[in-house]
Amino acid sequence: MASVNRTCRIFILLLGLLHFSKSFITPRISFFLGSPGRLQSHYISSEARNTTVLLLSPDASTLFVGARNAVLSLDVSKPDVITQKSKYDWAPKDLTRCGTAEKKNCANFIRVLQFINSTHLYACGSFAFKPADIILTVDNLSVSREAQRAKGLCPYKGSERNTALFVDGELYTATTNDFAGADPVISRYFSNGRADLSLEKLSTTLSDPTFISSTYIPSERKVLFFFREEGAEYKFMERFTVSRVAQVCRDDNGGTLTLQKRWTTFAKSQLICQTEKQLPLNLLQDIVMVPPGDDESPDNTLFYGIFTSQWPLTSSQSAVCVFTLSDIKTAFTGNYKSFTNQWTDEPNTDGNLGNCKLNSESDTILNLVKKTFLTASHVYSVGKNQLLTSREEYSRITAQRVKAANGHKYSVLYLLTESGFLHKAVLLKNRTHIIEEIQVFKPPQTLKSIIVSVTKGVVFIGFSEGVVRVPVANCSYYPSCAECVLARDPFCGWDPQDKVCVLVSNMKPNLHQDVDNGNVSEQCDSFEKENSPRLQNEVHLNQLVMLPCHSRSRLAKVSWRFSNHSIVPMSLYLQNKDGSLVVNVTPSTAMEFHCVTEEQGFQQTAVIFSLKLCLYQKSHYNGLVAVSILLAICICVIAVGAVLWWRKHQNKADLQCQPFQHIVT
Ligand SMILES: *[C@@H]1O[C@H](CO)[C@@H](O)[C@H](O)[C@H]1NC(C)=O
Ligand SMILES: *[C@@H]1O[C@H](CO)[C@@H](O)[C@H](O)[C@H]1NC(C)=O
Ligand SMILES: *[C@@H]1O[C@H](CO)[C@@H](O)[C@H](O)[C@H]1NC(C)=O
Ligand SMILES: *[C@@H]1O[C@H](CO)[C@@H](O)[C@H](O)[C@H]1NC(C)=O
Ligand SMILES: *[C@@H]1O[C@H](CO)[C@@H](O)[C@H](O)[C@H]1NC(C)=O
Repeated sequence: MASVNRTCRIFILLLGLLHFSKSFITPRISFFLGSPGRLQSHYISSEARNTTVLLLSPDASTLFVGARNAVLSLDVSKPDVITQKSKYDWAPKDLTRCGTAEKKNCANFIRVLQFINSTHLYACGSFAFKPADIILTVDNLSVSREAQRAKGLCPYKGSERNTALFVDGELYTATTNDFAGADPVISRYFSNGRADLSLEKLSTTLSDPTFISSTYIPSERKVLFFFREEGAEYKFMERFTVSRVAQVCRDDNGGTLTLQKRWTTFAKSQLICQTEKQLPLNLLQDIVMVPPGDDESPDNTLFYGIFTSQWPLTSSQSAVCVFTLSDIKTAFTGNYKSFTNQWTDEPNTDGNLGNCKLNSESDTILNLVKKTFLTASHVYSVGKNQLLTSREEYSRITAQRVKAANGHKYSVLYLLTESGFLHKAVLLKNRTHIIEEIQVFKPPQTLKSIIVSVTKGVVFIGFSEGVVRVPVANCSYYPSCAECVLARDPFCGWDPQDKVCVLVSNMKPNLHQDVDNGNVSEQCDSFEKENSPRLQNEVHLNQLVMLPCHSRSRLAKVSWRFSNHSIVPMSLYLQNKDGSLVVNVTPSTAMEFHCVTEEQGFQQTAVIFSLKLCLYQKSHYNGLVAVSILLAICICVIAVGAVLWWRKHQNKADLQCQPFQHIVT
């Protein structure tokens, strides 16, 4: 048995190595914290500390924030500032339940914040390891129903993941039910004129789960829960974690004798985000539902999930996969596995298993249902493919559909990395393009949340210090038609009249855009050749000079050309990883060098350097770098001049000051 285990591990290790050869997608442009190209508004306040949950009002003008010891409502209707509207302070007074080890987090972390209806909000918090809930008014966060104990509705620990949602005034919730976080439950509370329900407890119904999210599917009248847990059906190695989707039906009233006050419709299936020859990325981190288009079947409801791996070799990588509702439905209507002392196959010939109408079934059927809740087949990602693999560890995801200039709809994903960046990715036919990455906070952050407002065109991110708002795009960052088209951002198009890159939603006709191919020569026919910057450099014999070349795009390929456009041979020159060219100055190399960038088949000259051999021995100074550094050179000239003069008088060796000539040894 042990040797089988070992073989298995070695096999998995080898698969992991194969996985390393995968190509990761690089974001096209990177914006760091405070970059003027991608301004953000922050709401950093001691009152919004440890932001756990975000909830947006239907008109997207108010953001409700669940934080440490408080529920806040923020006015987010103005584009440049975020202000506080109201606040409900909700701190526990009795801190005796917190042991010394837990003193730091002995507070009320809000873990559920949901609309009950248009006028009332429900909040549930860890309340210093003694969960409590409350009902507040939407207008001014005044108390509508006093706080009560809420064991089983939200977790005892502030940082523990849980999920909950209201459907027609009834609360569906998945959390742990005890101080240790060892007793997981999926339940329905506030049931309208019928029994509250919870899960029948067996060792295999839930096995040390981490709850991720939940969503209501109106067409199916089902609530889906997403989580990960120990895969009890896998015997081949200890602690193999699997990701799951589970269902319960809204019309479930529990059984009459068997399964009284218990779900009769609970079923779970495994979600798989893995390509062939690859170590499974088995840990679901977050998943978001994107409803189908207006004219599409509800079966086309999509779920975008992010996955990481439980194995150290691949632990800092992640993948994005998409699942369809129709594949989830197929798994739940198919065959099952039954558990008594071991797993046995249970064909679903009568179609009873996973069925929503079991409430009044016979005890025989309910007894079968009680031990049969794991589907035999798995739910694979669409095409058994991954949409994106990244060297970054993704932790949260949200998504939207965007109508591009040609009327075609694209899915845009917003992915939050553990390192504090927001990746904005667009899904193209057969591939994914990361348009940009924007730094939004400094790691590490244990609490994170993300939400997109499609109507307002902004993404909100909650973290330990507060809330940050990032517009979905900044088209004016792209100064030319070529840059605008190369961005391949479905939000941005080039307006040829006004010569600006604008938001497509501004409804201007005839915007130039090519999200799929970024074909500049096709879109920018009136492309005016911009004059490339030309820099003159005085150089001297045998000097090694470095010519820098920067492209805003990390996807652009940099090459160097002579003035006759033939390629600079790398046998005689050296091109650094950052694209810069190293030239050893001789009479035959003192000439023009053109830096050409190429992206999506479009070439442009980024900069031209003209090296002029300087015959005077003393003119060692050249303006290789930008004009702003000239001042520094002047200071250097004076200083070195003084030293040289002094040295000459001392009959010592010659000394040179070349702070801007990078000497390569
Ligand atoms: C958009 O980019 C332009 C050009 O870089 C910059 O001036 C402006 O501040 C940016 N706006 C936002 C909202 O990021
Ligand atoms: C709460 O926020 C503070 C910083 O404001 C951070 O040090 C602490 O770790 C956070 N607590 C949790 C549970 O994330
Ligand atoms: C909304 O929910 C609150 C709290 O349950 C209740 O008091 C109120 O009557 C409800 N309002 C409507 C319009 O249903
Ligand atoms: C282009 O110029 C370089 C440098 O002067 C020279 O070595 C090369 O032969 C030229 N190529 C052509 C095709 O004229
Ligand atoms: C761009 O479009 C032109 C004209 O349709 C086509 O000839 C060219 O191959 C395209 N370039 C790329 C890189 O797709």
